[in-house]
Amino acid sequence: MKEYQQKNVSDINLEDYLSEYETPRAAADDMLFDCGRRKESLNGSWHYAVDQYDTCIRQHWFEERYQDKNGFTLPVDYSFDEWPVMELPCCWNTEKEMFLLYEGSMVFTRTFRYAAAGTGPSGAKERVFLKLGAVNYISRVFLNKQYIGMHRGGSTPAYFEVTGALQAENRILIQADSTRRPEQVPTENTDWFNYGGIYRDIELIRVPQTYIKRFQIALVPDGTFSKIKARVQLSDAGNTLTAETPCAETPGAKSPRAESPRAESPVSDADAELRIPELGICAKIPVTDGCGELVIDTKPELWSPENPRLYDVFLSCGEDAVSDTVGFREIRVQGRDILLNGRPVYLRGISCHEESVARGKAPTDEERLETIRLAKEMNCNFMRLAHYPHDERMARLADREGLLLWEEIPVYWAIRFSREETYEDAENQLKELIFRDWNRASVIIWSVGNENADSDERLAFMKRLADCAHAADETRMVSAACLVSMHKLAIADRLAEYLDIIGLNEYFGWYSPDFAQLPQLFANSDPEKPVIITEFGADAMPGHHGTLQDKGTEEYQAYVYERQAETLRGIDYVKGTTPWILFDFRCPRRTSAIQGYYNRKGLLSPDKTYRKPAFYVLQNYYQTLIGREDAQK
Ligand code: GCU
Repeated sequence: MKEYQQKNVSDINLEDYLSEYETPRAAADDMLFDCGRRKESLNGSWHYAVDQYDTCIRQHWFEERYQDKNGFTLPVDYSFDEWPVMELPCCWNTEKEMFLLYEGSMVFTRTFRYAAAGTGPSGAKERVFLKLGAVNYISRVFLNKQYIGMHRGGSTPAYFEVTGALQAENRILIQADSTRRPEQVPTENTDWFNYGGIYRDIELIRVPQTYIKRFQIALVPDGTFSKIKARVQLSDAGNTLTAETPCAETPGAKSPRAESPRAESPVSDADAELRIPELGICAKIPVTDGCGELVIDTKPELWSPENPRLYDVFLSCGEDAVSDTVGFREIRVQGRDILLNGRPVYLRGISCHEESVARGKAPTDEERLETIRLAKEMNCNFMRLAHYPHDERMARLADREGLLLWEEIPVYWAIRFSREETYEDAENQLKELIFRDWNRASVIIWSVGNENADSDERLAFMKRLADCAHAADETRMVSAACLVSMHKLAIADRLAEYLDIIGLNEYFGWYSPDFAQLPQLFANSDPEKPVIITEFGADAMPGHHGTLQDKGTEEYQAYVYERQAETLRGIDYVKGTTPWILFDFRCPRRTSAIQGYYNRKGLLSPDKTYRKPAFYVLQNYYQTLIGREDAQK
């Protein structure tokens, strides 16, 4: 049969059409430090097609084969530049009514010009990376008819080296697949809406042959607040001497990933230069085998929610230079206390999803800032970014506005805990989150999951993640939102042993109607470390009124907040709360008359314009806690 017919027949009969597109996989180890770099945006108008059957991959549309080897024109099932246009980044669900509930693959394509910059002083050509801020859940990238690689994970960035595939005129094609799957992280069952798309920035980043891959800078957490440690890792490091020592992995656990060309031999023993002008610091960081670190004696003004002091920092090495704006603070646990800059702190928090009515999981900067300012208006000093990594700009805004953050990976509910590939996916998302936000002073806690039933497989899986987080970052706390052990009516999750802070979700007054059990829970428990109540709350349809016996009313929600505050304020090992949740959010599981496919536990309406009475109950409660703290000063 003619080659094309054979190919076409094979296409329609080839069921294992994806396995060759499972590698190379962009992963945490492929990330580069990109703050302070010039970036070329590929945001804007992209042509797109809904690709329900993955025909793009099955038929290799990206090869653009319009003729056979004898020059005969071939029929094709796509016309890239005649497809309609969508403005990226966005969630397709909010772009057209017919896409609201669409889950599956869409194919996006555009052309762009690339002019190679001059060569560096060493005469070496530049290297170019494509950064996808986030695609939910799988992305596959093709450039100029070449398959570049894929990324798994719906809320963390992917970096693909495209140096060798670039031309003057380029066509890029990205398949985004939002399908929920039981083996993914999260699984197919969650309590939030599954938005799809290329929903965070798309950028080209140019770097020299040897570039700064990691740059981590923080106060040394030794209680003296007088030392800053800076770590640098170059792209050709022979090994990772820095804290990113590969997380505890079983042999062969490496997930397949994009093999970016590394220089033949580790960089010569260059020196990096660190400058922090406002601290009068200009220091050399000796780099050997591509890695280096330096501890500098200095006494920066400490960052805190009340005084979000930031410093501009600059790092250069060889032909590369980057910068960042960072705050210096220390977070530690001491017994049952959480210490911020050496002083006990009570985390007056609130949980929130990443969502906007108009733009789904791609809120505007104004909407992010509004979320932070509403939390602060409620007297919060803390926010739980549930249940997945929010946009990196959220932590930068929190650095600037003064808000402590809990960041989390979506190891949510019934993950396939005994499946090694699922663990690798979870660990990769954790490392991508940690490497992305390492320099953010606002982030104080990495959370490795939420509400997972306590089983042996789950314990092994989550312990590995907690160990990974501790190995990757010695400057922050590790936690998880655990479940109450209802048969013991106690805090008894075995994972707590491996956490610095115990997160606890409890819904007394709602799913567990008997409020009397709440004080009993705490009386039955004796944790040796701080506890944060990471969820409590109740549904209330905005404007829906009734008596205290009527669940779903604003009155009942406010009553739950009052009863919870009344109990929690007296528990000495509870050092924070992040009630569920700042604003109502889309949720396919919630279909009652007051819900209408929304989870109504918000203190605000979905568009954040309407405040339910419980908003003010929490605001007043936190005000009393501030008063209590002031009295103790
Ligand atoms: C759980 C879960 C949330 C969910 C909430 C609820 O605790 O962590 O994601 O939305 O309860 O039931 O409203």
